[in-house]
Amino acid sequence: MTADIAVIAHRGASEDAPEHTLTAYRQAIADGADALECDVRMTADGHLVCVHDRRVNRTSNGRGAVSSLELADLHELDFGSWKAQAGDEERPDRREVDAPEQERTRVLTLERLLMLVAETERPVGLAIETKHPTRWAGRVEARLLEVLAAHPVPGPVRVMSFSARSLQRVRAAEPALGTVQLMRFLLPRHRDGSLPVGADVAGPSIRVLRRDPGYVARAQRAGHPVHVWTVDDPADVELCARLGVDAVITNRPRTVRDHLRRL
Ligand code: G3P
Ligand code: CA
Repeated sequence: MTADIAVIAHRGASEDAPEHTLTAYRQAIADGADALECDVRMTADGHLVCVHDRRVNRTSNGRGAVSSLELADLHELDFGSWKAQAGDEERPDRREVDAPEQERTRVLTLERLLMLVAETERPVGLAIETKHPTRWAGRVEARLLEVLAAHPVPGPVRVMSFSARSLQRVRAAEPALGTVQLMRFLLPRHRDGSLPVGADVAGPSIRVLRRDPGYVARAQRAGHPVHVWTVDDPADVELCARLGVDAVITNRPRTVRDHLRRL
């Protein structure tokens, strides 16, 4: 925790390492992140893997939708080499992350991520986002809860989603699990800081706060902590600190943590 604002690593330390790989998460933990964010999608054979896009095309050397591929197909792909490491002149503070080839390139299952968190010396939280939950009519949430029950971790776990329905399914099945309602923009009915039933934490985009900084106080007054994404720019870090948000979700956990400490 830095200046009372938790730093959550978005897809791991994804500025420096290929997003959603074991390498990116190990780096985020080493960088002092309080929690790790990951997106989960279901494969054709029912496994939850940490992949953001519907298709694997951008972040691997393969093609096709995660939902139409089996875990064995994903294990054939390289999820790391698309990201060049050194020589990024636009971001001179970017680091080269040393990691075994397999950890840098292999698709990451949710189980493996939970094992990493379980073996970490200090408690690290998890913020798990259900992607495309409507397609699977509850199977993503059901599988997620099974995997969490089989792989307990010491830190806090929250489920995040843009889908209120997804969070309601989680709440109904596991009332003790924290939930975060992600919001790209504020619907008129949520401008007062209220959230859909089933959500504890407000998860607005940083754009929401740039337009409507008073939202943080309204949500907190309504009893909802505020976790903001994706906070990479120094001016946005300062805005979040001024407004007293509860957590920032960032691709650059070390840089943002250091910045918060200096404020
Ligand atoms: O942490 C919330 C944020 O990850 C939502 O957007 O597209 O990066 O999953 P996206
Ligand atoms: Ca996400």
